[in-house]
Amino acid sequence: MISRHLIDLDTMPLEEIEEILDLAKVIMRQPQYFSDSAHGKIMASLFYEPSTRTQMSFQAAMLKLGGDNIGFDNPLNSSVAKGESLKDTIRVVSNYADIIVIRHPLEGAAKAATMFSRCPVINAGDGGHLHPTQTLTDIFTLLNTKGTLENLTIGICGDLKYGRTVHSLIKTLLRYKNNRFVAISTKELGLPDYIKNMIKNSGCDYIESDSLEDSIGLVDVLYMTRIQRERFDNESDYLKQKGIFVLDPHKLKKAKYGLKILHPLPRVDEIDYEVDEDERAVYFEQTEYGMYARMALILHLLGNSAKQLEPLKESNLDKKCGNPRCITNSEHYLPKLYIKQEKGYICEYCEHTEQ
Ligand code: NCD
Repeated sequence: MISRHLIDLDTMPLEEIEEILDLAKVIMRQPQYFSDSAHGKIMASLFYEPSTRTQMSFQAAMLKLGGDNIGFDNPLNSSVAKGESLKDTIRVVSNYADIIVIRHPLEGAAKAATMFSRCPVINAGDGGHLHPTQTLTDIFTLLNTKGTLENLTIGICGDLKYGRTVHSLIKTLLRYKNNRFVAISTKELGLPDYIKNMIKNSGCDYIESDSLEDSIGLVDVLYMTRIQRERFDNESDYLKQKGIFVLDPHKLKKAKYGLKILHPLPRVDEIDYEVDEDERAVYFEQTEYGMYARMALILHLLGNSAKQLEPLKESNLDKKCGNPRCITNSEHYLPKLYIKQEKGYICEYCEHTEQ
């Protein structure tokens, strides 16, 4: 099975995700056998937002596969600064590249890119919405350190509202058997409704907590996240949320012996540096697992990448998405696409629900 793009892991069958993870494992054991696998192929990384790990691990992945990289890490150095639309940038870049990796501040941007690309598109983060390749990284890390993706109690702590890695991770772990979630956050930064509804509909156990200290003893996995400063409307709202949840050696005393601590990074102040020495902290290993997972993903998607343009869908409802951070509210040529629900509509780009 080969999907053409990776925008949301939810659209990928579990068997296909497992194929990618199996390949990542083989590559990790013997990377030298893959050093020519993407020879002659070009990856374009279009980063409209800052990045260290995602961007560099993708580029390192492509170089280790024998391929080449082009792209920008600051849209101000590209024609975007002259007012070029996403559509035009993608049409042009997909003539040069065999695969595109895009990170964008607006929700649904990667999905929009697939409509104008002649080659596979990978979502490397679309605003506060999703980050599927971080989830591949996270689940590959869990498989290697915990040995399973099932029967886990997963604590997710920090900015659950704007943390795109959190949304993607929960959506994916809901698809594995018997997982339970402990959502640790302030009221203001709790999970978006569409994610809460998904958890409820899946029948998974789920509790909310406002204390890391009280919940740490319950969990097998602790996924720490930073407060997403750049997504706040103003600095004072951010400052009210900053520094509330900090994992330190004192709190760690209450944790299970087999706990694994993950973090997509970058860390700001939510994990004390002393915790790095604890063997339960796996967030630096996680960055290396991410590179192997991305090598496998690149090879997987290149495997089915005859250049072609997908037919553009037609709008199925003539209305504006109510989410101001949705790409459709900035790039007006995009067809408006909604999925009809029992009560209202879900925007296909950003998953915002309207009654
Ligand atoms: C995350 C992101 O960009 O969403 N970082 C990453 O890709 N590893 C997490 C974050 O920025 O907090």
